[in-house]
Amino acid sequence: MVDIVHIPVLLKEVLEILDPKPGGVYVDATIGLGGHSENIVKFIGSGGRLIGIDRDDESLKMAEKRLSDRRVRLKMGKFSDIESLLNSDGIHEVDGILFDLGVSMAQFKDYERGFSFFSDKRLDMRMDKKQTLSAWNVVNRYPEKEIERILREFGEEWLSRKISREVIRRRSEKTIDTCAELSAIVEGIYRRRGALHPATKTFQALRIEVNKELNELRSGLDASLRLLKKGGRLCVISYHSLEDRIVKHFIADNSKKGLCRVITKKPITPSPEEIRSNPSSRSAKLRAAERI
Ligand SMILES: C[S@@+](CC[C@H](N)C(=O)[O-])C[C@H]1O[C@@H](n2cnc3c(N)ncnc32)[C@H](O)[C@@H]1O
Repeated sequence: MVDIVHIPVLLKEVLEILDPKPGGVYVDATIGLGGHSENIVKFIGSGGRLIGIDRDDESLKMAEKRLSDRRVRLKMGKFSDIESLLNSDGIHEVDGILFDLGVSMAQFKDYERGFSFFSDKRLDMRMDKKQTLSAWNVVNRYPEKEIERILREFGEEWLSRKISREVIRRRSEKTIDTCAELSAIVEGIYRRRGALHPATKTFQALRIEVNKELNELRSGLDASLRLLKKGGRLCVISYHSLEDRIVKHFIADNSKKGLCRVITKKPITPSPEEIRSNPSSRSAKLRAAERI
């Protein structure tokens, strides 16, 4: 576990849209370090409730320190478990749901977790450490075609063929064990360096595969529509185009079906000041809808 100063992304904008009210029931589906939730509870009065969910028990432990409050209930689980987690507490409808997608800075900067291309630790990337599939399995055990597909679809990596071929060649000599080893292989394939680290897309793709992030997002969004009361609000912060596309289509499709109203015609992005004080917010996009 690493110590981290955490600044919640687009906090003011999330609070304006979620508009938490005294007595309301709110779900933070990605509690992380509890940054957004710590602020949401300030508005829910003595009768409100906040249910914080995360699939990572280390995140839950960190959030617990910040949120020891009788109105807050923290639960371990993933987006596809949200309904059953709430139902088991007798909660069947809520006033607002927040998803702040991806990994937290604490997860990313803890090199033992194997999310960062700078890490000399084992390729891992599991948000839930009890899960068996890790990035090591994908890199060292998946067939070439499957690795290529994952890099292309989940990383939008235009060198997916070359990278997957090189991964297969290298692993036939020796298993690729650490993040730094994989990162060096990808760097060797890219001739020129742009603003992004050459391994960014490869690492994004592996993380999505390991944690089945896109399917999880789809089930979380579907569940939110069933859980929100009329007038209840959904806020989703995404950090890359694959996630944002899913959220955008989900909201547009359901507004056509008359199930929700679009609040953000265009996604809300961080101000230059926010990006300056918190550079990791730079790719954030917030989309929101109201249940009708
Ligand atoms: C960006 S962080 C959230 C930070 C939080 N909003 C804060 O201000 O502290 C995302 C968190 O969501 C969790 N997470 C990501 N996908 C998840 C899923 N499918 N189910 C449950 N938790 C998930 C991650 O483990 C991580 O802790």
